[in-house]
Amino acid sequence: MLSYRHSYHAGNHADVLKHIVLIEILQHFTKKDSQFDYIDTHAGAGLYNLKSEHAAKLQEYTQGIAKIKPEEWPELATYFDIIAMNNPAGKLNIYPGSPFIAEYFLRKKDRSWLYELHPKDAELLSNNTAKNKRTRVMLEDGFKGLLSLLPPVSRRGLVLIDPSYEIKTDYALVFNTINDAYNKFSTGTYVLWYPVTDRKNIDTLERRFKRSGIKNIQQYELAIAPDQFGTGMSASGMIVINPPWTLKKKMSQILPKLVSTLGGEGAFYKCEELVGE
Ligand SMILES: C[S@@+](CC[C@H](N)C(=O)[O-])C[C@H]1O[C@@H](n2cnc3c(N)ncnc32)[C@H](O)[C@@H]1O
Repeated sequence: MLSYRHSYHAGNHADVLKHIVLIEILQHFTKKDSQFDYIDTHAGAGLYNLKSEHAAKLQEYTQGIAKIKPEEWPELATYFDIIAMNNPAGKLNIYPGSPFIAEYFLRKKDRSWLYELHPKDAELLSNNTAKNKRTRVMLEDGFKGLLSLLPPVSRRGLVLIDPSYEIKTDYALVFNTINDAYNKFSTGTYVLWYPVTDRKNIDTLERRFKRSGIKNIQQYELAIAPDQFGTGMSASGMIVINPPWTLKKKMSQILPKLVSTLGGEGAFYKCEELVGE
């Protein structure tokens, strides 16, 4: 039984990094006229009330999105537009998750496939996205679902893989799933999120990707504190396969600024090519 609920964590530093990277990629995807499929293997509930009991308990968003002031971040104007659209009263009450970030960009011809395995969050996601015509929600395992959809009919695809890593085998499963997905659809863009709670897991993941034969892989990481063990998530990162050519330059400008806004002593970032083209 899954116990993770993203409503406790929405808008934290990890969401900020993840959603900035996602927006940069979606912006690039919609520059081309041809249709694409957005596949979100771990979609969550879609929208999060930051005043809810869950969000109020840990208040993680106060150390994430609430610290980023729109007037100081013109480079994140689209991110703030998406947040504003979901907060018509002007105050930050609702935080949009990845399905709603993608929804902002989708055109009539594009499709969004959202997998969510927690029954409560799948129900919330279905209700939240009921009006989104291009979206399909599935109460299924996103790892298996992804492989059943590839290659997408459009032959253009952006895949977000954002597990909670509640089950420790998820570190191996994310790599194996991406490896299988890449064999079915090597031109897709794959975006994998990971938490740093024990650096050894990430070192292993990096080694696997480097040896995989998969080309064109970049890594972005935001650490708000030095690596530690047993005290929660000090950093999070994104591994991006087949990124847009603009992404690395943009992230190399954003990440140092994010570290100084969100990080404490010993904070650092990574903005690297893991495997060349
Ligand atoms: C980190 S949250 C997703 C957040 C969301 N992607 C966002 O950025 O707004 C991870 C979600 O994956 C769900 N989940 C866990 N294992 C899953 C699986 N095998 N397939 C689909 N969903 C899963 C959890 O219930 C949780 O809602």
